[in-house]
Amino acid sequence: MVLLVVSSPKGGVGKTTLVANLAVALRRRGRPVTAIDFDSQNALRFLLAPGHDGELGVARCTAQGLPWSSAVVDGLDGVRVAPYGEATTAERLRMKDVLVEPTLAEALNSLARSPDEIVIADTTPGDGRLQERLEALADLKLIVLLADAGSMALVPTYRDGLMLRPMSEQPNTFGVLNQVDPRRRLSRDIAEFIAAHAAERFIGVVHYDESLAEAAARGEAVVAVASDSVGAMDIDAIAGRLDRLTSSGSR
Ligand SMILES: Nc1ncnc2c1ncn2[C@@H]1O[C@H](COP(=O)(O)OP(=O)(O)OP(=O)(O)O)[C@@H](O)[C@H]1O
Ligand SMILES: [Mg+2]
Repeated sequence: MVLLVVSSPKGGVGKTTLVANLAVALRRRGRPVTAIDFDSQNALRFLLAPGHDGELGVARCTAQGLPWSSAVVDGLDGVRVAPYGEATTAERLRMKDVLVEPTLAEALNSLARSPDEIVIADTTPGDGRLQERLEALADLKLIVLLADAGSMALVPTYRDGLMLRPMSEQPNTFGVLNQVDPRRRLSRDIAEFIAAHAAERFIGVVHYDESLAEAAARGEAVVAVASDSVGAMDIDAIAGRLDRLTSSGSR
């Protein structure tokens, strides 16, 4: 299994959108993919498995001692989806208590059916402890940032400086700059600054593209239904880099 954890210092930056579309793009490149949701709002299931009610998810499985595979449903383009599912407050709290690192590792491993399977995790910024444990197990970490002043102000402090620490100290952490809009000067300047000074810390840029939200509203992934849109091409380019970074020859 290859564990890919997608997180962000701020909410609402596009994590779930990127997880859903990267999962489909990696699948279309032939990789087996399971996407898992650690957000109790269940947004990932709405994007990747819109036809399922997803009531039984990883939260209830954890509380009841069931394997996470019991919660897996078939999603778009052959992506398997492990939803967070419905959960009482007690079940949510239990999830945080029970999932110490070894238990979390075992549960994640049980989702993958082959060594080259990518398990891609969507997270929520509010969940510090679980987030830390997930990141400790991750083979690759993607940190989603917006090309705006608020996100950039957080860069030096987030996880001790995504851009500032040398690559050799955190070779498996990459930024993704999302919603870049070349029509807006600040957005353009930030994208140019990163390209010039921190390109090796960023796995890619995703332009602002309304077709991402439009496809999501129809229950589709933009990389599948509008593959020539700028957002789909950006995401597919990132998927290509992830595929190369995580294929067995390069690990
Ligand atoms: N590149 C993009 N271009 C245009 N809209 C985008 C882009 N990326 C994300 N969005 C839109 O931004 C909104 C927030 O995205 P999303 O829900 O994926 O963020 P999130 O980081 O998962 O949020 P949360 O922290 O609440 O889980 C959605 O309406 C989504 O369609
Ligand atoms: Mg989300």
